[in-house]
Amino acid sequence: MTIILRTNPLEPDLEVIKQAAKILLEGGVVAFPTETVYGLGALVFNEKAVSKVFWAKKRPPDNPLIIHISSISMLDEVAVDIPEEAYRLIRVLWPGPLTLILRRHPQVPKLVTGGLDTVAVRMPAHPVAISLIKELGIPIAAPSANIAGRPSPTTAEHVIRDLQGRIDAVIDAGETIYGVESTIIDILSKPPVLMRPGAYPVEEIEKILGTKIEIPDFARGLTEANTALAPGVKYRHYSPETPLILVESSSSDLSKIINAVKELSMKYAENENKKVCIVASSETISMYEFMSMKIHVLNIGSRNNLFEIARNLFRTLRSLDELSCDIAIIEGVEEKGLGLTIMNRLRKAAKLKIRV
Ligand code: TXA
Ligand code: MG
Repeated sequence: MTIILRTNPLEPDLEVIKQAAKILLEGGVVAFPTETVYGLGALVFNEKAVSKVFWAKKRPPDNPLIIHISSISMLDEVAVDIPEEAYRLIRVLWPGPLTLILRRHPQVPKLVTGGLDTVAVRMPAHPVAISLIKELGIPIAAPSANIAGRPSPTTAEHVIRDLQGRIDAVIDAGETIYGVESTIIDILSKPPVLMRPGAYPVEEIEKILGTKIEIPDFARGLTEANTALAPGVKYRHYSPETPLILVESSSSDLSKIINAVKELSMKYAENENKKVCIVASSETISMYEFMSMKIHVLNIGSRNNLFEIARNLFRTLRSLDELSCDIAIIEGVEEKGLGLTIMNRLRKAAKLKIRV
């Protein structure tokens, strides 16, 4: 049985927070909202509870978790030898969707870090997440609260859909804010390395640091990474059950993408008699309407507001399965700012990538 605890996101109900804290202190696992996506939490120092997180998500044991803290003193309980560059980012960006790779404190179980001597740490900005960690006084280890490989959950309904009966409770505080996960920076490397683009654009982080951040191909979702360096990157991610085709272009001329999407969707709908879902932007959606009765068009948001597309991304991917499409075709966006984050997720989610 999974208990659903409901609260207002901005003014967390103290009774709800206390009930969730009690379950965690007794060694249970609880899903809770953060400003990015819902996380599935366990007390970081309780190995039995942490192993329940891996079990509930069906997550491979070498894919480490992120540690969530609510104060700087908690940071010292999970990390050691923190470099000055880290504090420069922490001062400006915490609480918020930035995760830092730091040296592991020996008391953090290796189960949490997938055997690594580094830890991933962040201070979330969601009032519910912060109240819960404060109430516990102990950091929470939490990956996203989805079955491994599925799109991350941005609502409690998504969590329930994936994890009903596999976790003790979920705190339902409505939709998350960013809708994509935190940006992960390996601040121990020189220059720092972007491990995963996320809700904070990497360009903003470079401005604060005053240095360039290395963007490896795996952070763009283009290649598999060296697993020792970037655990988690080797696994299939964010995928709806519906096979997804991504059509991307390095040209700013949208007509190339539009023509390719039109051609592909007509081929599947008319020649192969399939139900096709096209995921388009506000700017291009009118190009695909009324092509065929077998084509269903969804709007993911405006290309001029990538925050909107990022926020709608996982919900839209999940909705493809509910619409029972045979195949889905999605347009790529420019790889700048949040566009890098969106393209990383889409390239990992797609079965087939087409460049035009
Ligand atoms: O926004 C977020 O980051 C959300 C919310 C719940 O906080 N969490 C999240 O966790 O996205 P998860 O487990 O889905 O992604 C954590 C990723 C891992 O896949 C891994 O790539 C990276 O963090 N990671 C964790 N520890 C690491 C380490 N020591 N070195 C390198 N990467 C690490
Ligand atoms: Mg995840």
